Amino acid sequence: MSKIEPAALRSALGRYPTGVAVVTTTNASHQPVGMTINSFASVSLDPPLILWSIDRQSDLFDVFTGANYYALHVLGQNQQDLSNHFASPGEDKFTNLTPEEGLEGVPLLPDHIARFQCRIVARHEGGDHVILVGHIHDIRQNDGAPLVFHDSRYTSLV
Ligand SMILES: Cc1cc2nc3c(=O)[nH]c(=O)nc-3n(C[C@H](O)[C@H](O)[C@H](O)COP(=O)(O)O)c2cc1C
Repeated sequence: MSKIEPAALRSALGRYPTGVAVVTTTNASHQPVGMTINSFASVSLDPPLILWSIDRQSDLFDVFTGANYYALHVLGQNQQDLSNHFASPGEDKFTNLTPEEGLEGVPLLPDHIARFQCRIVARHEGGDHVILVGHIHDIRQNDGAPLVFHDSRYTSLV
């Protein structure tokens, strides 16, 4: 078997379009933290479970893998700036944002097209990522088309 080159793998995986989401939680100092992800997937309807995976290299790796709860916000097509903001490394991504407080103090972003508040019920090894399975405790939904990520670029359905 030939070796899978990372660049070729990234390119082939990028052929699969995804939505874009921001996951949030609080750190040990109870400060809000968040990051942009596209590894979100539905898992189970009963019980209601979702998953996403976090890179072991992420500055927020210890925070999210050590957390008990997270909120996952699916972004709308006009939220590309917010996606880029939460995809940048940095301590305080919540300056100039006024999050609401969700379950166990998890910060909630007011703008989204869907939001899931979850308790982490499983952490699975996934190579250079860890998969975080969340049991959904609350869902919200708003009108609007999703932001889409495809071929390493943002796009939209409309
Ligand atoms: C569209 C998009 C999707 C991303 N998906 C993921 C993901 O699923 N998991 C992940 O760990 N990082 C993902 N990232 C990268 C993180 O957003 C980025 O590494 C992180 O926010 C950088 O800050 P940190 O090191 O403080 O985590 C994605 C970035 C973008 C732009």
